[in-house]
Amino acid sequence: MKNKNIKFYKLNESKSTITFNNFINKKKISKAYKSIIKNSFVLSFLFIIIVGGFGMYENKKVAELAAAVYSTKDQSNEKMNSSSNTLKVVNINYNEKYEIIINKANPLNDDMINLYKQVEVENNVYPNIKIEQKTYENYIELKKAIEERGYYLNIRSGFRSFEESQIIYDKYVQEKGSTYAEKYVAKPGVSEHNAGIAFDVVISKDLTNLKNDYQSDEYKYLENIAYLYGFIIRYPKDKENITGYEYEPWHLRYVGKDLAKYLTKNNLTLEEYYDTKE
Ligand code: DAL
Ligand code: ZN
Repeated sequence: MKNKNIKFYKLNESKSTITFNNFINKKKISKAYKSIIKNSFVLSFLFIIIVGGFGMYENKKVAELAAAVYSTKDQSNEKMNSSSNTLKVVNINYNEKYEIIINKANPLNDDMINLYKQVEVENNVYPNIKIEQKTYENYIELKKAIEERGYYLNIRSGFRSFEESQIIYDKYVQEKGSTYAEKYVAKPGVSEHNAGIAFDVVISKDLTNLKNDYQSDEYKYLENIAYLYGFIIRYPKDKENITGYEYEPWHLRYVGKDLAKYLTKNNLTLEEYYDTKE
């Protein structure tokens, strides 16, 4: 009985040693697997973060750009018109870089774009907006005047690269169709945004409600004083067939104080001005 017990004990011991060794080996293997899985997981995670992060940044940029334009439409008079086919080609005088006409018949080119230095718009509720330097200096004065009256002026879309214009245009086409897109968005090269001398604004009584109301006192005030700082409402109501674009009360264009005063007092668009000038 005793021997049997010892024998049994030894056998059991050896058995348990084998089991333990197996266990060690399995543990080692499983440790190795675990390490591979763990490392793969960490690498995949980093990959997702980097690629996903970049994608999100790109998507965010596109979304911001599109939102900047789209959010203007809901408040606008969406009366459709037939686009102008009568736009005249104007001889561009490079010295008149702020009086320049940019439209479907008068595109910008790379040389001209280099004439305009873009600067970051500071103290703006919408981040990462740039506009042309002199346009910005005058915008600051306009903004001050608006704030002295108790209102807030912000820019929601400023300078756009050709690539950004294309993204916005494509998004419009995709969601609203090309006829509609043609009436609200300029293609790359024929947008004043590409020179940074035009931008889209939001004027409001308080910063918690950043929505334009074009019948409001604050908008009327902006409309009345814009020319004093060299700005015009570039796409006015009832001039759709002349400019080729729908009424865009939010789109301000810097043309310089003299020309802004002349155009505003005479109720003229740039197209009409150049038609009579030449
Ligand atoms: N919304 C104006 C026409 C532009 O895209 O430049
Ligand atoms: Zn605009």
